[in-house]
Amino acid sequence: MDRYIGIDLGTSSVKTLLIGENGIEKSVSRDYPVQYPQTGWSEQEPLDWYSRTVDALKELIAGTEPATVRALAFSGQMHGLVMLDRNDESLRPAILWNDGRSVDEVATLNGEVGESFLLRNTGNIAFAGFTAPKLMWVRKHEPQIFSQAVKIMLPKDYLAYRFTGVFATDVSDASGTLYFDVRNRCWSRPMLDLLGIDESVLPAVHESREVIGTLLPALAAELGLPDGVAVVIGGGDNACSAVGTGAVRDGDCNLSLGTSGTIFVETKEHRYDEHSAIHAFCSASGAYHYLACILSAASCQKWWRKTVLGADYDFSGAERWLGKNEVLFLPYLMGERSPINDPQAKAMFYGMSMNTTADEMSLAVLEGVAFALKQNLEIIRSLGVNVTTSAICGGGAKNALWLRIVADCLNVTLQVPDNEEGGALGAALLAAQGVLPAEEYRDFAGRFYGVRETVEPEPDLVAYYDERFGQYLQLYRK
Ligand code: XUL
Repeated sequence: MDRYIGIDLGTSSVKTLLIGENGIEKSVSRDYPVQYPQTGWSEQEPLDWYSRTVDALKELIAGTEPATVRALAFSGQMHGLVMLDRNDESLRPAILWNDGRSVDEVATLNGEVGESFLLRNTGNIAFAGFTAPKLMWVRKHEPQIFSQAVKIMLPKDYLAYRFTGVFATDVSDASGTLYFDVRNRCWSRPMLDLLGIDESVLPAVHESREVIGTLLPALAAELGLPDGVAVVIGGGDNACSAVGTGAVRDGDCNLSLGTSGTIFVETKEHRYDEHSAIHAFCSASGAYHYLACILSAASCQKWWRKTVLGADYDFSGAERWLGKNEVLFLPYLMGERSPINDPQAKAMFYGMSMNTTADEMSLAVLEGVAFALKQNLEIIRSLGVNVTTSAICGGGAKNALWLRIVADCLNVTLQVPDNEEGGALGAALLAAQGVLPAEEYRDFAGRFYGVRETVEPEPDLVAYYDERFGQYLQLYRK
């Protein structure tokens, strides 16, 4: 029996997953730190990614039959800037997707360069999380580093490079750089000229399911894997999650409540929102998708429980305030991307009185994230996509109360997949797709797409949240 490995390089941990004909067999994760050297900055060491991934893979592979592993692929946190020198040493910590330092560069791009130029050449406008403004920030503030960079890449592509020696990326992840021509699935020359970089510093672009090479022999030996294991490039974590939950047909939606919260909607045609709040990226299926990303989703829950309450709060007391909570929460703990594009936005609670309890504030945290998603979904709906059903994945989807709130607030039927592995499963499936004939792959993938639970919206709560949404929208404006 053939087996496949998916590696999801997340923000707080890397998850590795082994799948075979009988489904998911094993999963091993390893954590690594994020550094916040200044308010709004967010960095990680590429070497940590590599060592922790290798460590996780050793445990994943131990006790299985290594000879059956046929291919592996990557899913990765998007947009991060990794710069290597001529000796393949990382020149500085990677600047991550939720780093907000490039406010001035974003203003230059969207202002002086102009949104219409950006949209025409890339299909997107600039957000602080995207790679291009970070590159401009390094060019301005760390010119000696910029001039030494001979390879510029995204987080998962660093792993792929260390694993194979092949310098490669895929269309879904490249879409989030803002120097990629999404419509034509290639690097954008006008953008490269603008940034002052040569195409030779960038990886070769592949479709997400393509084999880029095989594991380097020394690494294969260290992991206990045979020679010749195929390495498929994989994709950005949202594109991979969509493959993992089966959101691969036109109009399919996948919501993710991870560190960030995302709404992914697959579309056959490349179209962009004229008001530019929503990203238009390539998907791993060979088509395109709309993506909205709120920077703090499950991280709000973590912050509230661990940092503020300091206890393992379980939200059971919050549930009885459903439909009558007076507290509102804006989830901008890391500024915000979609749709307000304001790295300096701050989180807040509103509406407390002397009677307010921690339960109401806890509920408000979950509701605030749901409202932030709703604000984006309404824009996607206004583009003519009728989203009534969605898969949902990510750590936050384990919270039953949150599922109820999201279903009602967004007015969508949520389908919780049997397999909640999201990006890691999507990557493992892309590994399989890379080496299997199309028919065989379809049968294989179909086994992973069962639905464990369906959450229907409740009309009373839908109406309640519609009304509260108006008040929520007022808060940021004010
Ligand atoms: C998407 C985005 C996030 C990261 C999280 O645009 O920035 O979802 O990919 O890993």
